[in-house]
Amino acid sequence: MIELSGLTKRYGDKVAVNNLSFTVRPGIVTGFLGPNGAGKSTTMRMILGLDHPTAGDVRIDGRHYEQLKDPLTAIGALLEAKAWHGGRSARNHLLCLAQSNGIADSRVREVLETVGLTAVARKKTKGFSMGMGQRLGIAAALLGDPRILMFDEPVNGLDPEGIHWIRNLMKSLAGQGRTVFVSSHLMSEMALTAEHLVVIGQGRLLADTSMADFIARNSRSYVRVRTPQRERMRDVLHTAGITAVEAGGGALEVDGGKPERIGELAAQHQIVLHELSSQQASLEEAFMGLTAESVEYHAQAGPAPGPAPGQAPGPAPGQAWGDGWRKG
Ligand SMILES: Nc1ncnc2c1ncn2[C@@H]1O[C@H](COP(=O)(O)OP(=O)(O)OP(=O)(O)O)[C@@H](O)[C@H]1O
Ligand SMILES: [Mg+2]
Repeated sequence: MIELSGLTKRYGDKVAVNNLSFTVRPGIVTGFLGPNGAGKSTTMRMILGLDHPTAGDVRIDGRHYEQLKDPLTAIGALLEAKAWHGGRSARNHLLCLAQSNGIADSRVREVLETVGLTAVARKKTKGFSMGMGQRLGIAAALLGDPRILMFDEPVNGLDPEGIHWIRNLMKSLAGQGRTVFVSSHLMSEMALTAEHLVVIGQGRLLADTSMADFIARNSRSYVRVRTPQRERMRDVLHTAGITAVEAGGGALEVDGGKPERIGELAAQHQIVLHELSSQQASLEEAFMGLTAESVEYHAQAGPAPGPAPGQAPGPAPGQAWGDGWRKG
């Protein structure tokens, strides 16, 4: 279990993490979400004692990181930056870590096998691809067989196979009763991985809720209707107790009605339909709505690197904040 209470970090007059209080529980994957610069990595560094809080407190199973004996056996972490010497082999890097934490050498072979690096175990890590580097970082996190695991943007730079592998690994670690805390700035990725969500923006807590609750609250479904007899269609729906609002492109957005029912009502009243389609607002849109106020990095007006004319003023669904977006 990881417990944060009033955790705060200032860099000069910049408040990177602002009074965060939440608990990360065992047995489930908890997603830690927020736009670029929200304070995710800073929070994770404070959990690991790599940064000192300006105020507040964070505990790992009731203790501060510095109080843990053989910390790798309590909490394993993959942080953003590569934290190893390029001249060492993957195996030697892990052996050094194992020896300084009282972990048996045989465990190195096991974790190399788990992350699929056995074949390159004796190669120098400076030649590793980004995906291999991520796998080595994960091997280090798993080395002490810790009850708590923390991953900062683990799927960055991975190919689809790697992303799939990490997703399943995190779920199986949580399934073994471990605490799994993973950051991302992609809602779409978290929707497939996490059972619980902690969302922050500009260092502040915006949501601490189950994924099921987030989906139930935020993924609105509606029916889109286009008809040359719009006013009449609205009246017919209104009489049937169904609400319709004007949407773009001369369409109606209908809440609380199935397309079958709407189509039948239109037929009964001889209303011509040009479109009748079920729509679902994506979680990515819901997440962007939630964090919109606190996004630090906005697209610039003008052609590059902002959106092309006619494109939405933000990253496309599935695209990361920061991919071609710079501080506004
Ligand atoms: N060492 C530092 N000195 C000064 N400011 C810092 C330092 N580390 C982080 N910050 C600032 O604190 C804020 C939070 O940064 P942090 O890296 O924690 O965000 P993040 O949520 O991890 O973002 P990303 O999604 O881009 O990784 C940012 O505004 C950043 O510029
Ligand atoms: Mg970060």
